[in-house]
Amino acid sequence: MSVLEQKASQQAIDLENKYGAHNYHPLPVVLSRGEGVYVWDVDGKKYYDFLSAYSAVNQGHCHPKIVGAMTEQAKTLTLTSRAFYNDMLGKYEKFACEFFSFDKLLPMNTGAEAVETALKICRKWAYEKKGIEANDAEIVVCEGNFHGRTTTIISFSNDPVARKNFGPYTDGFIKIEYDNLEALEKHLESNKNIAGFLVEPIQGEAGVYVPSEGYLSKAKALCEKHNVLFIADEVQTGIARTGKLLAVDHENVKPDILILGKAMSGGAYPVSAVLANDEIMGVIKPGTHGSTFGGNPVAAAVAIAALSVVKDENLAENAERLGKLFRSELNKYIETSNIATLVRGKGLLNAVVINDSEDSDTAWNICLKLRDNGLLAKPTHGNIIRFAPPLVMNEEQLMDCVAIIIETLKGFEK
Ligand SMILES: Cc1ncc(COP(=O)(O)O)c(C=O)c1O
Repeated sequence: MSVLEQKASQQAIDLENKYGAHNYHPLPVVLSRGEGVYVWDVDGKKYYDFLSAYSAVNQGHCHPKIVGAMTEQAKTLTLTSRAFYNDMLGKYEKFACEFFSFDKLLPMNTGAEAVETALKICRKWAYEKKGIEANDAEIVVCEGNFHGRTTTIISFSNDPVARKNFGPYTDGFIKIEYDNLEALEKHLESNKNIAGFLVEPIQGEAGVYVPSEGYLSKAKALCEKHNVLFIADEVQTGIARTGKLLAVDHENVKPDILILGKAMSGGAYPVSAVLANDEIMGVIKPGTHGSTFGGNPVAAAVAIAALSVVKDENLAENAERLGKLFRSELNKYIETSNIATLVRGKGLLNAVVINDSEDSDTAWNICLKLRDNGLLAKPTHGNIIRFAPPLVMNEEQLMDCVAIIIETLKGFEK
């Protein structure tokens, strides 16, 4: 890196540090361009993106079809608000409902907003359809969850940093162990006020925890038995990331409420959505919920293009195939490694656990070295590194990345 350009990246970092709130701890790399599986820094150095903006960029950076749809629509009509109809929203809603096999979609912008929307729908359904007494509804959630950052959502997080000094918290949530059907059954059997069960099909932020096979289908059956809504947060796992269109598809589960975000736009624009059938979504009436930007024409055009790319380019099949290859190559290395203890995941949502304590900085240092070696990834928690490349990656690129990861890990062996 030349002294001049080192200055350029340092200047960008200094600006963020001086004028931006310090709510993130980014890896020190300043990116200025992206295309497909690659990103470039201000110095022109090329990297494999192995995070994909937390699985938003499943379709690859600046996909020409998505960017094309976005710029065309941006030149025509960007925002009407929902005070009026626009000629794109209905087309998008029809497209997405058919794509995911639901009756109705409620458009929002971010993942957290979509989770909030699902919680509101669930509560309203509980009072108006299930017959729970006013203000008594409870929603079961899982320990280690990550559903976003709003006040209600952090109320049922067990991450102390996410919660501390943000109280008072929202009531009405029961936390149970993830991947524990007995705990779910115990609450459903003994508590008539339970309205919903909110679950990530794989816990991404927590460190890519894949539940036991059959967990999701059995949890869904328990919810059905007790007239409780099964709410799948697929903001991170959805849209081909885990090798199927939705992670719940691995167990043929149809959620009562489906929450999507991130890759709904391929990372081009904030687009999120909640999908449900008529008997549930019907509780939403004018004035009960909304968002100025939710369902705007640009978001609608972008989402249609982004979902089309997923299907046209067989991204789920690619993620399934390359994910298996990634885990088998990493497993071969792990057999003889004393720095990596295990690789886990589904499709192209994977994590490698580093052989050090959770509060060590080894995983962070490995990510710095991966960066130097041309691959960008980040620890999720302490000693766990998440690996989630764009799903448009090909086998040759994946093997190139595997070589970088293994060579880097070897440098940290003890
Ligand atoms: C499972 C899950 N739900 C919700 C969210 C929140 O999405 P957003 O950051 O767009 O609000 C995330 C973000 O990582 C997530 O992984």
